[in-house]
Amino acid sequence: MRQVIAGNWKMHGRPDDVSAYAAALAAAAPPATLLICPPFLLLERFAAALAGTDIALGAQDCHWAARGAHTGDIAAPMLAQAGASHVILGHSERRADHAESNAIVRAKAQAAIAAGLTPIICVGETEAERDAGEAADIVTTQLRHSLPDGFAGLIAYEPVWAIGTGRTPGADDITAMHATIRAALAAQLGEAGRALPILYGGSVKPDNAAAILALPEVGGALVGGASLQAADFLAIAASARGH
Ligand code: PGA
Repeated sequence: MRQVIAGNWKMHGRPDDVSAYAAALAAAAPPATLLICPPFLLLERFAAALAGTDIALGAQDCHWAARGAHTGDIAAPMLAQAGASHVILGHSERRADHAESNAIVRAKAQAAIAAGLTPIICVGETEAERDAGEAADIVTTQLRHSLPDGFAGLIAYEPVWAIGTGRTPGADDITAMHATIRAALAAQLGEAGRALPILYGGSVKPDNAAAILALPEVGGALVGGASLQAADFLAIAASARGH
């Protein structure tokens, strides 16, 4: 299966940035499936700029309700109509900044699936949890409570302490956690859990991407800071396993 290289622009980017970036992506032919997740405001512009390419578009969050009195929020059907096919849910920044619990992430995933979107559910331990030897328990608990029954989508393993810090876990730690996640998915979802892509995220850069993407059970990368420049994002995608 082709690896998925997903860019999470977070709260970066302006409408003026879209056309050059989209054109650079569209002109490349990396051995990976590309997915770009800009702020909500840029989705429609990206959808127009990427029309006719096989580059996928995602949002960074959605509400758990399909509509209603929720000032400032965005519903999953709106994202689908704006051209998104995917949505990141439960990113650690949302879990921290917006007190999103596993139950909220699960409800959002149900809303996304109902709207025809593919969720990317983020899990990961803090540094204190890793130091306490609790990383595997934390991540499997997050999976157990964040994934709806019959979940079909992607998982992103993002150790909180690796996000935006330039630090990454060692290859053995990434391999061990991805194996833990695979086993948890198989236990939770049966046969379907054996095939879901598990992305790694947290300080993926052009110079470490090949080593990370070569590890077993790494189905791709969720890239924050290094996705903001098309050249860096494409350099990461160029080191993906294309099969
Ligand atoms: P980073 O962010 O690549 O800037 O560490 C990854 C993420 O939070 O998805």
